[in-house]
Order: sequence, then structure tokens, then C-alpha cells
Amino acid sequence: MALDPGVLDEVLAGLGASPRTLPAKLFYDEEGCRLFAAITELPEYYLTRTEHALLAAEAGAIAAALPAHASVVEYGASSEDKALLLLDALAAAGAAARCYVPIDIAAPALTALTARLAARWPSLTVAPIAADFLAPIALPTAAPPPRVGFFPGSTIGNLEPAAARAFLARARATLGPAARFLIGVDLRKDPARLLAAYDDAAGVTAAFNRNLLVRLNREAGADFDPAQFAHEARWNAAEGRIELHLVSRRAQRVRLANITLTFSEGDSIHTENCYKHSVQGFVALASAAGWQARRVWTDADATFALHLLATGGADESNLASPGIG
Ligand code: AVI
Repeated sequence: MALDPGVLDEVLAGLGASPRTLPAKLFYDEEGCRLFAAITELPEYYLTRTEHALLAAEAGAIAAALPAHASVVEYGASSEDKALLLLDALAAAGAAARCYVPIDIAAPALTALTARLAARWPSLTVAPIAADFLAPIALPTAAPPPRVGFFPGSTIGNLEPAAARAFLARARATLGPAARFLIGVDLRKDPARLLAAYDDAAGVTAAFNRNLLVRLNREAGADFDPAQFAHEARWNAAEGRIELHLVSRRAQRVRLANITLTFSEGDSIHTENCYKHSVQGFVALASAAGWQARRVWTDADATFALHLLATGGADESNLASPGIG
């Protein structure tokens, strides 16, 4: 399959820029999804485990802070694992969700998720949307307000702060009146722990990173030798982010779509940013996007945060406001 022409344009623009970049959305082809699923199981990659445990521990309190019989809209829903904790807790509180809308760009994963949910929970209305959740989304009529947005996994950390703010503002408009938005955010911590999470001993993250080049070879006719690019995770303290890079091991030339890219030894392609937000930093970001921070739950070691945001304003007057705690 050939790369989408719009994505190829982004690739060419990024590789022509200085410093060189590749768009992070390129990670998630079939092999990239498989490798990311393997990353979530790694001993060093604490994010998924910690968020899951936090959600499981606080599910009752979270459900109590959400509107009853809401439409639950999950952004970037590659698996139903975390949503089920929320949906189960809402049902246990007598406030069962009216409908669940998983949004994900990976259509096959979404189809499989929908089938699994239909088998496990036949009475739940599931209305999947195969789309890039960063683009404007029209929700189906099966998912009326009040709506609860759900964006787990710290995927918001993969967005530049300006893009994260724009995404949050758009989601506020999409989710409509009296909405809530529950967002999982990885917290700032010891850089050594962060670096290990993005440069694991088994080399799975390295394979995930190099898979970008494998994909460009297959889908854009490039001739990268992935083994000649080293995977590097770097902590950028000034920006508060982990960066992934592919660093040329030697001087080399690569052909891609009729252009020749020249690399010196040590030249990098910057492939991903993973921002780590403090609680107050994320609250400020959400406020700048028009959301009101209502609650935040963190684990005992302050590794990961679950933020509950509300639309605020007049449409909130009949709902409880538990406060930041
Ligand atoms: C999807 N996202 C939240 C992951 C992260 O931790 O930023 C992507 C990832 N990249 C390398 N490892 C995991």
C-alpha cells in the first residue's frame, strides 16, 4: 500500500527541514500498533500499568463525579481495556453510559474492539468512528449530551503544547454542554526513569522507532537501511519532554520519492515528543483551552495523573462540583 499523498508531503517537508523530523502519526501501521502494544507490557514502560491501576482504584469516585447516562467518547481508542473500567463503574453506580463512541484512526483495531464489546456487553450501544481524532469530528445522533470525553494513555503528551491546547478547545466544542473530559497524563519525574521507559532493554521501543523507516521503504519506495540508524531517547529539560530520535551511524545517502537525502554521522531525525506535564502545568493548559479543572487523581508515587475537566459556565449549575483534590 502506498503512503497517503498528504502524509508523504508531510514526510518530505519534515525530512527537508532542519532539524529533520518525521510525523509521529506514521508510527501506527499494523506493525507499529503491534510494537506499541508490546511496549505497554514492558517492565520499564510504567505508564499503562500505572494508569490502569489508578483508574481501577478510583473508578467509583470518578463515576460519582460524572453525569448519569452520558455518552462516553474515547479519543484514540485502540483497546477497550480502560474504557471498560469506566463503563463498569458507571453501570455499578446506576448511571450506565447511554452509548460508547470509540474514535481511532486504525479502522481494523476499531472493528475488532467493537466486536469484542458487542460479545461482552450486548446491550451497550457502540458507535465507532474511524478517524484522526485531531481533526474535527461530528458525533452521531446516537451520542447526545451530556457527553464524557475520555483520553487515556498520556497520548496528549505526544502533542506540542499549542496543538494540545487546540485539541482541547476543539474537544470542548465537540463534547457540547455540561461535558466532562477525563484525561490521563504522565507526570514529570526522574529523567532516568523516563529514559528507561523510552529506551527499554529488550529493544522494543527501538524497533518501534525504526519501523518508521521500514514503513517508508515499503510505502514510499525509500531505501533506508534501518540498521544504520540508532534509536535514541533524550530528555529535553527545557521543554519538559522525552524526544525520540533516529541517529545516522555513518555518512550515508537515502533515496525517497526522487530526492536524495544526505546524512553525516550523528545526524538525527527527530521522530516523537512525549511531554511530561506537572499537575499545575496541565491545569493551566486545560484552562487556556476553556476547560475548568475539577479533580485530579494521582497514584501514591505521583507517577501519573487523571484529570477531570468540566465545561464550566451556566450549563453546569445543576451538577456537583467536587473541587480539585
Ligand atoms: C502513545 N503514546 C502515549 C506513547 C508515549 O508514551 O508517548 C508513544 C510511545 N512512544 C514510544 N513509546 C511509547
